[in-house]
Amino acid sequence: MQPVQAPYPLTRFRRVRRTAAMRALTQETTLTAADLIWPVFLCDGTAQRQPVASMPGVERKSLDLVVEAAAEARDLGIPAICLFPYTDPSLKTPGCEEAWNPENLTNRAIRAIKTQVPDIAVMTDVALDPYNAHGHDGLVVDGIILNDETVEALVRMALAQAEAGADILGPSDMMDGRIGAMRAALEAAGHKDTAILSYAAKYASAFYGPFRDAVGASGALKGDKKTYQMNPANRDEALRLVARDLAEGADMVMVKPGMPYLDICARVKEAFGAPTFAYQVSGEYAMIKAAAQNGWLDGEKAMVESLMAFKRAGCDGILTYFAPAVAKALRHG
Ligand code: PBG
Repeated sequence: MQPVQAPYPLTRFRRVRRTAAMRALTQETTLTAADLIWPVFLCDGTAQRQPVASMPGVERKSLDLVVEAAAEARDLGIPAICLFPYTDPSLKTPGCEEAWNPENLTNRAIRAIKTQVPDIAVMTDVALDPYNAHGHDGLVVDGIILNDETVEALVRMALAQAEAGADILGPSDMMDGRIGAMRAALEAAGHKDTAILSYAAKYASAFYGPFRDAVGASGALKGDKKTYQMNPANRDEALRLVARDLAEGADMVMVKPGMPYLDICARVKEAFGAPTFAYQVSGEYAMIKAAAQNGWLDGEKAMVESLMAFKRAGCDGILTYFAPAVAKALRHG
């Protein structure tokens, strides 16, 4: 596009900013509740709410309360909820078998939500970090994160989630070849309509810290995730990963974290035109909340502005812990 404009004073940009009505008419992008996926943390038991200290306003919820949360989200116009389990340490094993137990916390929650709040889309996390004591997304032998063996385990996990009724599988593990393997297994098992939202460009980021507290993995994590998550310095690699995952059968792709990687969001959307999501991760949420609690910025305005930025960058939607708060803020204008 070649912008054409007359020189000042024939063109005055302030004319269309003069009133709220003029600004609304000329607004280029919009943020609505329909753009949001709400990540929620699950814990065992009933009537349990466990606040996450590093994420003010976020709590782990037991199944009954997650079903209530799903109903609240639906009523607010939020189309999807994404489940992350806090796994009891006694269920963690080197082989991560709990990950594909049909009765694990996630699979029970999927069934409960799909029975009681069928209209909301349920997304899952496909990765092994909640299920082993070392906090890695894959199987570990002698300090090495195994790729192909992990993919086999992830396929089992994905099939169990699809069987439980998940609408969207979210492989967040960054192993090579997992999208193709999952897609083939889903087709073979008759789960033709289960969607995959691939964490395609996921960076080895310091902004995941509070999340690891929430799922009980932070004390556990040995080392870092740099042999499978991306180097934050890389750009072209993100495009190659997205191309690879789309070619293997991903329906939607994600860039993660969000705000420090808006350039990647914009390039991915421009290059492929696929449904593109950003994950505004726990550390991004914590920064805005902490500054707001200190009175250093207006938390509600910063929340809305940070999420609008993803739409401007070309994203179709955002995973955000602010989902219900922003849906309410948008409703009240
Ligand atoms: C792990 C996973 C992580 C997040 C989602 N899935 C953390 C990690 O890779 O260590 C981070 C989400 C957030 O920080 O909000 N499979």
